[in-house]
Amino acid sequence: MKKFAVIGYPIKHSKSPLLHEAGFNEMGIDASFEAIEVSPDELGDWMRTDFPDYAGIAVTIPHKEKIKDFIDQLTPAAKSIGAVNTLYRKDGLVIGTNTDCFGVLKALQSECPELKNKKALILGAGGASRATIFALKQAQSIITCWNRTEKKALKLVDEFEINTVSSLDAIQSEDFDIIINTTSVGLKKWQSPVPANFFSPSNIVFDIVYDPLETKFLSEAEQTGCQTITGDKMLVYQALEQFRIWHGIALEPEIMETAFFG
Ligand code: ATR
Repeated sequence: MKKFAVIGYPIKHSKSPLLHEAGFNEMGIDASFEAIEVSPDELGDWMRTDFPDYAGIAVTIPHKEKIKDFIDQLTPAAKSIGAVNTLYRKDGLVIGTNTDCFGVLKALQSECPELKNKKALILGAGGASRATIFALKQAQSIITCWNRTEKKALKLVDEFEINTVSSLDAIQSEDFDIIINTTSVGLKKWQSPVPANFFSPSNIVFDIVYDPLETKFLSEAEQTGCQTITGDKMLVYQALEQFRIWHGIALEPEIMETAFFG
């Protein structure tokens, strides 16, 4: 039986085992998927002593950057994003990649199939923002980034050739096709990174936060009449890409979506 796992700290609330086990059941794959709590201090030991038993692992907060020290090769996506969320083995090597960008892309395409030349406003400049920027650059969207700490947004300008704004007051939402929240604002709290009257009805609005699924950000966008995309889509699509990498199978999204809501 092949072994898979997600490692993180904390890890209790990870949905990854649920999503991947649903795929194993559907496809009759003889494999296990554990959620393993590995503290930052333990990461090196865990990779040396436990990881050899696993065919692949998913990596989550806070290890997405540090894990690079234990990998033979990074994919271009992982290199550009600067973070790894998936490890797999190929020709005896450990490869680190990032499927978050795939998750963002597929989630956005569910409401907006053609992203080329679409104007996107990305809120936030952390790891999730980098995956989102990478995805939208690949799709040839026109990107503007806003971040609470402007310095961090400015660092992304040279790296990804995007625009930034120092204040939300300096822009009109109607100038954007897509608005994406990649900040942690709204996670388990009824808060939004933008004022309630920020949106325009033509905006497609996506929140990567999925706890709660209906965030204040999305709720206010909906009240304005915008099309909205909930955070479960990104989670499910990034897991589907992991499944494809590990098992060579393109699973139907409904299998993991049902497991998410199950
Ligand atoms: P992740 O890897 O999940 O993206 P991160 O790298 O810690 O997490 O980034 C968190 C993002 O949420 C950052 O853009 C952060 O803004 P700062 O760079 O100014 O810290 C943003 N963020 C967190 N709390 C925020 C708040 N209360 N208001 C606005 N932005 C916030």
